Amino acid sequence: MIPIANRPIPLLPEVESFVKRPQRLFIANTFVEPASGQMIPTENPATGDVLAHIPAGDKEDIDRAVAAARRAFEGDWRAMSPTQRAACMFKLADLIEAHAEEFAQLESLDVGKTITSARAIDVPFTVYLWRYYAGWATKLYGKTLDLSLAPSDTFFSYVRREPVGVVGCIIPWNYPLAQVSFKIAPALAAGCTTVVKPAEQASLTNLRLAELIVEAGFPPGVVNIVTGLGETAGAALAEHPDVNKISFTGSTAVGKLIMQAAGRSNLKRLTLELGGKSPTIVFADASLEEAIPTAATAIFNNSGQVCNAGSRLYVQRNVFDRVVEGVADYANRLQIGVGLDERTQLGPLVTHEQKARVLSYMKQGLQDGARVVIGGPDLLQDIPGNFVHPTIFVNTTPEMSIVREEIFGPVLVAMPFDDPDEIASVANQTHYGLAATIFTRDISLAHRLAARLNAGAIWINCFGVFDPNLPFGGFKQSGMGREFSQEGIEAFTELKAVTVKL
Ligand code: NAI
Ligand code: MG
Repeated sequence: MIPIANRPIPLLPEVESFVKRPQRLFIANTFVEPASGQMIPTENPATGDVLAHIPAGDKEDIDRAVAAARRAFEGDWRAMSPTQRAACMFKLADLIEAHAEEFAQLESLDVGKTITSARAIDVPFTVYLWRYYAGWATKLYGKTLDLSLAPSDTFFSYVRREPVGVVGCIIPWNYPLAQVSFKIAPALAAGCTTVVKPAEQASLTNLRLAELIVEAGFPPGVVNIVTGLGETAGAALAEHPDVNKISFTGSTAVGKLIMQAAGRSNLKRLTLELGGKSPTIVFADASLEEAIPTAATAIFNNSGQVCNAGSRLYVQRNVFDRVVEGVADYANRLQIGVGLDERTQLGPLVTHEQKARVLSYMKQGLQDGARVVIGGPDLLQDIPGNFVHPTIFVNTTPEMSIVREEIFGPVLVAMPFDDPDEIASVANQTHYGLAATIFTRDISLAHRLAARLNAGAIWINCFGVFDPNLPFGGFKQSGMGREFSQEGIEAFTELKAVTVKL
């Protein structure tokens, strides 16, 4: 019997009442019923019970929200100075911070994630990110330049950097509050207005944020939130002819659908943050005391439901057994439990569908001949909730689906390697290219390898260091474009070249 931590902290009264309240769509700063009148039940990942009901928004609601965003873009939001826009954003950051515990509890309840990580990561990072981009609102500028084909006193040319327009933001469920902020904060700082489609599995913190958006003084229509299913509300946003850009995080499959929708409709701009199968590479000379817990955290944090999770572990052969045993030992000591128990280090997966998907990958891995070091599909399956035991596979081959595909659960595949010169091409044998982690004391080797790995983020002797000032995004089928940093805000702008004959 694996002991499950199941002593949840008492919920704040405001969290209790928010979860019980009938939810509404948020359009033009008012809370409205969905056109369909339908609601979607959402699941409590810790128990499998119904947690809340969210409105089933559809095309009609998306049309209303896009119209509101367009009016705000042409009207109130454009009429404000960058300093005034930044003031709303700073105010919102302060409000989120003032309600930090409420957001952390709501996120833990809705996603199943641990309250400790919601408190330490989701909420504070969100606050930093709003402040970071509030600062950028007043620091975007174009440039003047001389023409190459004419004397410089004959023409005056300048390049304006303008907001791209109405932005559709499609959000995944793994970090709902943070992910919506990654999109709307830079969009608003650039002068855009937004329509958000939260993940149907976990929309509650997005809807709570709506209330603070009103309180922070944003004019109506600057942010609109339409909950609902991907195939209906999400697809309508991606197809909409009056949406200028989609910023999406989620699966590669849906990223491709959104790209097709953009191509069919109006060639809207796209930023896509998609899946990953990121390698962690440990050389024999590394500090194994650091590499082992970091490699474990890289895959087991947020129960593996992380786009940049280090899900493939490559270890130099002479330390392979030691590292795998170390990671297994770390995983075995993780306290599994309900997210709202402060002792829990590994919570349930977000939905029973996600659990089924992860378990079926495990079963396929066993069928394909991989060997389980710890975990496996049978553990924890006699208790309610979407629990999956941390699992490590060895004896894998590159063709196995557990090695090739994003599992999005606490499942690691570990493989030995011999030749340091070949590890880059082995690690690059994937359609993905989001992140890669290297552990070695040989700093030249680390930099050479960093240059050869096809991934948007490389971490050397560390993992998962995120900063609003560091661009983040994928190579290959892990996406296109970057979030965070100057690149992240410029992604919400168009350039306009103006030329005057003198
Ligand atoms: P998904 O990609 O289907 O959902 C992400 C968002 O896209 C949700 O808001 C969803 O409603 C929306 N969506 C779905 N279909 C759409 C469509 N046709 N048009 C427009 N929007 C649409 O991801 P899902 O089904 O929740 O998870 C499946 C797998 O995707 C996971 O197992 C994981 O491998 C991957 N995933 C990756 C994430 C990442 O951070 N890279 C986040 C979430 C999922
Ligand atoms: Mg889906």
